[in-house]
Amino acid sequence: MFRKSMLSLGIMFTWFALAQEPMSTEKAVLTHAPDVPPAITRTQPAKVVVEVETTEVIKRLADGVDYTFWTFGGKVPGPFIRVREGDLVEFHLSNHPNSKMPHNIDLHAVTGPGGGAASSFTTPGHSSQFSFKARNPGLYVYHCATAPVGMHIANGMYGLILVQPEVPMPAVDREYYVMQSEFYTEGAYGEEGLQPFSMKKALTEIPDYVVFNGSVGALAGDNAITANVGETVRLYVGNGGPNLISSFHLIGEIFDSVYTEGGVLANQHQVQTTLVPAGGSAIAEFKLEVPGTFILVDHSIFRAFNKGAIGMLKVSGPEDLTVYSGKQADTVYLAEGGAIQTVPAADKPELPTTMTKSEKLAFGDRLYKANCLACHQSEGQGIPAAFPPLAKSDFITVDDERTIGVVVNGLQGEITVNNHKFNSVMPAMQLTDLEIASVLTFVKNSWGNTGGEITSDQVAKVRAKPAANTQPQEH
Ligand code: CU
Repeated sequence: MFRKSMLSLGIMFTWFALAQEPMSTEKAVLTHAPDVPPAITRTQPAKVVVEVETTEVIKRLADGVDYTFWTFGGKVPGPFIRVREGDLVEFHLSNHPNSKMPHNIDLHAVTGPGGGAASSFTTPGHSSQFSFKARNPGLYVYHCATAPVGMHIANGMYGLILVQPEVPMPAVDREYYVMQSEFYTEGAYGEEGLQPFSMKKALTEIPDYVVFNGSVGALAGDNAITANVGETVRLYVGNGGPNLISSFHLIGEIFDSVYTEGGVLANQHQVQTTLVPAGGSAIAEFKLEVPGTFILVDHSIFRAFNKGAIGMLKVSGPEDLTVYSGKQADTVYLAEGGAIQTVPAADKPELPTTMTKSEKLAFGDRLYKANCLACHQSEGQGIPAAFPPLAKSDFITVDDERTIGVVVNGLQGEITVNNHKFNSVMPAMQLTDLEIASVLTFVKNSWGNTGGEITSDQVAKVRAKPAANTQPQEH
């Protein structure tokens, strides 16, 4: 009798000791996009302290365009938070004393009313604390949920929190944080100066900017993410909205696996484009076989080429010509019967061989709209970090022969225009000498450029030269 009760006392004591074994405590490592905190390697839950400050700051939205961002952690998107399934997250939200607005946080990883919103409501110069159990693994959006909620999100208050599953996802060589969102400004895309938020445009859901990681070019050029041939990459992709769904696509790659909607199952393979809902996420994994620049876009494609939703992944390493050959031939193509086809002269007006300057300006205007506008834009403003401006362009002013060469032969490699670097590809334009003379005369006399005229003879001379001098080689 005595022994039996001693035994059950012992069991009870052991159970009590186990239950009371204190969780270890650690401070969460937070990273700004495109960086992701290192994988959590511990095998037991812990208490994780997360400290985030909200601030209201003026920063660059695009070249020449500033915006008053409301932020988690001073940048858009907010920091990437990484915890493990089962962790107890102690969240501290501090609102900088200089803020004009109260802010809070709704983490989609929270089980509880408002995702923490009411518990974290914080006026300027105050801090709030609440805790939650990270019960559900997955990749979750967080955002400010202070009224007017749409405006707090539109101004930049969102980010991602990864609740790592107990059974970890496979190891990869590189992980990156990419978050899409839109901005609604009083001025049109590219209109210079400090641009206020437009509630009217937000309500109609027609943004001026659609961007990755908070600004035009935040993931392009020198800010591109990088990897090497042979490596595996995992992208944690979020969409802060506030309104649009992203058709997320990586030009030139196929996602080997996608965890759709940020769940824990790699539930689809061989994916070209994955949907990322507003207030949602996806995880995309792929291995890199060949080098080059791979472009991240929202494949609602005007958003990419006209509103800023372009990012770059630059991959270094050896070519594999069995995977991708590069261009193997460029030969003259004569359609079947083309050689004997005759077009009645009346149906095909002959182009004059010369034009006056004013005729060239009108002709050039039409040619520009048909051939150049998609990249260089209606007012020659270009697209920051993607396509150089032709308006007030120092490149065009300096050297006519070089400019003609670019149109005749195309251009690849880095160039500097108006103190900004560009590294995109312009194809050789299939235009006649007179057409090129006209379109360049039009450009030289438009949008604040210094005027002048290009002749067909000048174009013909450049065409007769080898192309090397206008085509910087990368290899
Ligand atoms: Cu807020």
